[in-house]
Amino acid sequence: MRVLGIETTCDETAAAVVSDRLGAEGGDILSNEVLSQIAQHAVYGGVVPEIAARAHIDVLDRLIVRALANAKVDLSDIDAIAAAAGPGLIGGVLIGLTAAKGLALATGKPFIAVNHLEAHALTARLTDPLDFPYVALLVSGGHTQLVAIRDVGDYRRLGSTIDDAAGEAFDKVAKMLGLPYPGGPQIEKLAQEGDARRFDFPRPMLGRGGADFSLSGLKTAVRQEILKLGTPSDQDVKDIAASFQAAIVDVIVDRVRGGIKLFTEGEGRPSGLVIGGGVAANGAIRRALTRLCAESGLRFVSPPPVLCSDNGAIIAWAGLERFKRGFRDDLGFAPRPRWPLDAIASGAHHGKA
Ligand code: KG4
Ligand code: ZN
Repeated sequence: MRVLGIETTCDETAAAVVSDRLGAEGGDILSNEVLSQIAQHAVYGGVVPEIAARAHIDVLDRLIVRALANAKVDLSDIDAIAAAAGPGLIGGVLIGLTAAKGLALATGKPFIAVNHLEAHALTARLTDPLDFPYVALLVSGGHTQLVAIRDVGDYRRLGSTIDDAAGEAFDKVAKMLGLPYPGGPQIEKLAQEGDARRFDFPRPMLGRGGADFSLSGLKTAVRQEILKLGTPSDQDVKDIAASFQAAIVDVIVDRVRGGIKLFTEGEGRPSGLVIGGGVAANGAIRRALTRLCAESGLRFVSPPPVLCSDNGAIIAWAGLERFKRGFRDDLGFAPRPRWPLDAIASGAHHGKA
């Protein structure tokens, strides 16, 4: 079974073909074409929605053709067409969704609307044999949440950020330090040469019950430290990056611990912890979570960094998982700029054929 997946919710235009394995778990990525728009947004220090939407239009059709060609298939070999229908920037979502609907209409193939967060949460099952239920940590530029993944289409939020997303915190701190967008990878690189103990930044929510995050206080503390320094030297910048990253790692580990506890109380032991979203590419976060899981005897599944950031394969895989369980969507499916994962569980929109 092969599914074409289209992703246009933020600043990556992406198309991919993914297949399942006969009689085995996991899937194969036959092609995964990603075109990042970072260069077009970097001058503005963040994603500009109108530029993003126009850039998606410019390249999406060619990218789909390339994804099919590199997978050595043509449209008639595809079983279903999936697109991320949200959450994300409305202009971009509209373009990917409309392209997918157009292809579905022209070919008579089934159309599947995928929740972008659901795609990050299910990616672990593409790369590793992993049974439900499990805990997913989703950390990106726009989202930070812990979710109980009970089954395809059955999700319960365990906790989420009450202010900034983790990626947003990385990006804002990077901006304060005069580093280019996106800031996460820059901070990670500089942190390797910095002293993580030089600045004792706050760890908001540490030790609190539940699994919610708060990151804006940490960001403010970093801003105050930078103001105190006046013009930070190169070493100051590295030490701030290292100290900030250490604080966010501590917060994430503590909140994940809380999420696992909540999960266990509600539904017993999870089969593992998975991570997804751009921030999940961060090596310090991955190492800390590896340790946490080793201590608690829990399996840790971390898809390779290229599959943690936005791409078409994760949409195609989520589409394939939904397709195999009989989910189909109407061509009238509207884009959803906001689309909490729990809303899928209530079955508010997704119809089973
Ligand atoms: O999932 P993603 O590619 O796009 C969104 O849906 O937001 O995530 C992008 C975010 C950006 O905030 C970026 O700074 C962050 O992920 N990021 C990182 C790293 N790589 C990307 N943050 C920390 N460390 C990294 N290595
Ligand atoms: Zn994402």
